Amino acid sequence: LPTHYTLPSGDRIPSVALGVWQAPKSEVGEAVKAALETGYKHIDGAWIYGNEAEVGQALKASNVSRKDIWLTSKLWNTFHVPEAVETVLDESLSRLGTDYLDLYLIHWPVATNKDGTLNNQLTENPYPTWQKLEELVEKGKIRNIGVSNFNIPRLKNLTANPLKIKPAVNQVELNFWLPQPELLKWSKENDILLEAYSPLGSTGRVGKSLSVPEVKEIATELGITPAQVIISWHVQRGVVVLPKSVHPSRVVENLQITKLPEAAFNKLEKAATSHTPERGLDPSKNWGVDIFG
Ligand code: A2P
Repeated sequence: LPTHYTLPSGDRIPSVALGVWQAPKSEVGEAVKAALETGYKHIDGAWIYGNEAEVGQALKASNVSRKDIWLTSKLWNTFHVPEAVETVLDESLSRLGTDYLDLYLIHWPVATNKDGTLNNQLTENPYPTWQKLEELVEKGKIRNIGVSNFNIPRLKNLTANPLKIKPAVNQVELNFWLPQPELLKWSKENDILLEAYSPLGSTGRVGKSLSVPEVKEIATELGITPAQVIISWHVQRGVVVLPKSVHPSRVVENLQITKLPEAAFNKLEKAATSHTPERGLDPSKNWGVDIFG
């Protein structure tokens, strides 16, 4: 299975990352430490997760060289106005203890004003935000830029602008319950790498994911754990996978991926794509817009 994918910039992004969404401040440091010790080279975080300082401290304590680690962060909804972008990026950089990010994503295709109301104009066309990100790439503070939670129409809408730099990745919910085969196909055709968040189904659905009969059968057949079957399936589909755990033993388990035999891969792909898709996460309606509808 690929250990890395090459982005249009030429940078190689590691295929498995430690995801730190919902990793409490008090536990995230241990998880990052375990991840770096076991060989993770990629941490996926965001400004809104509220734990960048703790991630930064763990990185510093590890003595892993900055160039050997891939760091992703994300621009929160309230900072899409071009004047706000660099300040909040600088905040992430300083908390992480670095002077550049490998990847910076627009976290949601939703721009909100300071009072929480929707900024319709920037939500409908995020080009001004994107131009600011392009400028920050030129300035050397970010190496690659992308988006998160964008569906095909929203990506088409963004890329219809005269972009200098195309979105390199789109980070979306991808798991057994929401495998998004159309988005995966379209993204490959358009050279946009998908990243899978909630790859195990996220809190509340993990147990259900790990007990899918096909997943259990393949785990037994290959002598690996159900979580390893699912994480391997993601990479075999050609996406970056971001399993989150704050338990060191699971952090270690989740990096050990194996190529599934073709029949096993096809069996799991078929099972995942033949039930009604169920999205785990869509806060957008609370923000006054239905982004997936
Ligand atoms: P914990 O952090 O307590 O280990 P996802 O990556 O889909 O968002 O899923 C994250 C959830 O899955 C977390 O609740 C995490 O719990 C749990 N989890 C992560 N890795 C494993 C694993 N290998 N086996 C069982 N549960 C796991």
